[in-house]
Amino acid sequence: MKADKLLINFSQIFCPIDKGHPLRGAEMSEATIIEDGYIAIKDGKILEVKAGSPREELMGKETEVINCYKKLATPGLIDCHTHLVYGGSRENEFSKKLNGVPYLDILAAGGGILSTVNSTRAASFDELYQKSTRLLDEMIIHGVTTVEAKSGYGLDWETEKRQLNVVKELETDHDIDLVSTFMGAHAIPPEFKGQADEFIDLLIEEMLPKVKEESLAEFCDIFCEKNVFTAEQSYRLLSAAKKMGFKLRIHADEIASIGGSKVAADLHTVSAEHLMVITDEDIDRLSEAQVIGNLLPGTTFSLMEDTYAPAKKMIERGMAITLTTDSNPGSCPTANLQFIMQLGCFQLKLTPIQVFNAVTINAAYSVCRNEKIGSFDTGKQADIAVFDAPNIDFPMYFFATNLVSQVYKNGELVVN
Ligand code: NIG
Ligand code: FE
Repeated sequence: MKADKLLINFSQIFCPIDKGHPLRGAEMSEATIIEDGYIAIKDGKILEVKAGSPREELMGKETEVINCYKKLATPGLIDCHTHLVYGGSRENEFSKKLNGVPYLDILAAGGGILSTVNSTRAASFDELYQKSTRLLDEMIIHGVTTVEAKSGYGLDWETEKRQLNVVKELETDHDIDLVSTFMGAHAIPPEFKGQADEFIDLLIEEMLPKVKEESLAEFCDIFCEKNVFTAEQSYRLLSAAKKMGFKLRIHADEIASIGGSKVAADLHTVSAEHLMVITDEDIDRLSEAQVIGNLLPGTTFSLMEDTYAPAKKMIERGMAITLTTDSNPGSCPTANLQFIMQLGCFQLKLTPIQVFNAVTINAAYSVCRNEKIGSFDTGKQADIAVFDAPNIDFPMYFFATNLVSQVYKNGELVVN
């Protein structure tokens, strides 16, 4: 078969191994690394990825050949946890953070997430659309080709729906593929102060059915945290969502360990997010229940905390982990997944192979798109990040600089 495009002369091609499940434990250190190889693309899909020069049979009259000398290729990066759509910004909290005011104290005083709720309620569809587009533009130039996006800055139906519709429209309009998550349980809205249970009732009885009816989200998520939602409330919301056919995630053990990981294990959520203060017992629970740990070291960094998720211990105890930005205006205002990957090495002490597996094949499982993306298996989407780097160590070592020079999405060059 002739290829439509041949990307040749890569110094290295990172090929994650799709084993039919997220890479767990020691598997996270496995990958096929091809030296001096090529990628053949046909109809927007991967045809073959091999070492050496392309076979004669791949080369037709129409085949476009692109020289990628001294470059590294990896599957398009996947950012599997973002709060993409929001109004306003929160640089006004920055000096408070510098002075050591805790994140949850800012929230309790009506700031934090609730400040973004006010700005998002006040923002029009177009404003939210433009702002999210800018973030996606920034993400794609850093090599990201698929993004999970949560609602949760409306906390009322009108605004939640507006956020979800922005994601839906951008899924069509932007080169990045989007995976939508309903996170109406992101904070307790001011009109429900002191009535978290009643707000959970509203989410279960009114909002979730509408999200389902209008096909606005595939996942449901909740912020299980001290002074936000309890483990019981999280269990109640997520088990109702599960019955309605939603896939599940949970923000757990970010600041205080209050039982979120146990909820994740009991309900077999697809992932549990943050896990900065997870206990050893809960690591074993998640490992046993095969819940993916979505780790967000940029949040620890940006909150100016010292406690990073115990990623190495999680891997030692058999968990599958991903790395993701948490991109949001409060706890992690960035769109740069490469920097988060570097924190994966610098702070979580992961190896470059573990890091690249985390943001490709494991992240593909975390967004339940593993049949289409996350590796270079024949027939998967030709989503490719090309780094101006000779090997996978280089972009981890040469930090805080964007080293992605080209991005292919479904075989088309979208960043150059
Ligand atoms: O994952 N922790 C809850 N939600 C976000 C923060 C959102 C915000 O501060 O606006 C997070 O860190
Ligand atoms: Fe988050």
